[in-house]
Amino acid sequence: MTDRSTSFDVAIIGGGVIGLAIGWRAAQRGLDVLVLERGEPGGGTSRVAAGMLAPIAEADPGEQPLLALGLASAAAYPRFIEELSEAGGTDPGYLSCGTLMVARDRDESEALERELAMRDSLGLPVRRLRASEARRLEPGLAPSLRLALEIPGDHVIEPARLTAALVAALRHAGGRLRSATDVAEVLISGGRVAGVRLLDGGELRAANVVVAAGIWSGLLAGLPPQARVPLRPVKGQTLRLHDPAGPGLLTRVVRMPPGYLVPRGDGRYVLGATMEERGFDTTVTAGAVFELLRDATELVPGVSELVIDELLAGLRPGTPDNAPAIGPGSIPGLHWAAGHHRNGILLTPITAEMVVAELTGDPPHPLAEAFHPARFAAATAGTRA
Ligand code: FAD
Ligand code: GLY
Repeated sequence: MTDRSTSFDVAIIGGGVIGLAIGWRAAQRGLDVLVLERGEPGGGTSRVAAGMLAPIAEADPGEQPLLALGLASAAAYPRFIEELSEAGGTDPGYLSCGTLMVARDRDESEALERELAMRDSLGLPVRRLRASEARRLEPGLAPSLRLALEIPGDHVIEPARLTAALVAALRHAGGRLRSATDVAEVLISGGRVAGVRLLDGGELRAANVVVAAGIWSGLLAGLPPQARVPLRPVKGQTLRLHDPAGPGLLTRVVRMPPGYLVPRGDGRYVLGATMEERGFDTTVTAGAVFELLRDATELVPGVSELVIDELLAGLRPGTPDNAPAIGPGSIPGLHWAAGHHRNGILLTPITAEMVVAELTGDPPHPLAEAFHPARFAAATAGTRA
């Protein structure tokens, strides 16, 4: 039966992992929730993500609040997954596999030693491995390996399965989802958010609107410049592969900056990814595929036997400081959950927790302040809507 309701407590624009998780958690708290997705749920950047839950491997000393957020979200994941599986009855594909960062030559080894020192100084659990030790753990690694770091706490989830589990859990909690429904504009009336206008002209009323439209969040009409979050697309090209011989080539994530090889545990692998600033371009180029395969086969020679299933490019939603904008907008009733850049899958549980605290009037999350959308007010004040 088609759902014809036109009034909600919360309308969420975007059915990626972020919008779906907020919808599920808000519906669990008794709010009347509608998630609006212009395509299929999870069909945006979430579909392209490798699914690494890697706050430690991706730690950057210049981004300490983001590291704290990532660690908190990674810690929340096991419980989140348990509840999600119970609620929706589907397995979100969490793989507790750990991660190796590896180096092939002297320059890369020196760089890896610096990476180790940085993580040690921050008290992050990382173990230095000689090449022989790393190869004992992962015999698929090349004999030419020089050095490795083991990060036992950085794991993986399969974004497509996470999406399916979130959709099932959202519905189970009484939340609603409308696919193929494009939001054109956020409606504002009397100085507060009133709902959304759809591309087909229809209007929906909502006391709260959550902008969770990934990189497309910046394209929504209706918001004045000072109410916006500045976003830039950061393109990532990836390959999906599988091993006709079955699982076993790799059991851990292997990272060789900027690349990585992620096992799904069943013989499928994701090889990624480029970091390119080229606007909204999602083409896959021969040069990128060549470089990713060249580096991966040098480190894991068995990669050359894998079958290529798909070539994909996606757009990471990057803010000026590379950290997400999570929290209230400058107009009452407006909320942001966008700009998750390289870590949206990792940050799904904690983003949902933060936004739902806001929607229900619970005390703000202790980490919320650093991610407040208002930090960009000066950057957007001078721009045109
Ligand atoms: P999206 O998944 O893009 O969802 C936004 C949704 O909004 C889309 O489905 C879109 O169709 C919809 N939408 C847009 N406009 C409208 C509108 N007007 N009306 C209705 N719907 C609309 N993160 C990790 O944590 N780990 C990783 O290993 C990882 N690997 C990555 C690898 C690559 C190559 C890339 C590109 C990204 C990777 N990421 C990773 C980052 C991660 O994919 C993103 O941060 C995350 O998917 C953002 O989720 P989202 O829900 O905000 O956006
Ligand atoms: N976090 C991995 C990527 O963005 O490619």
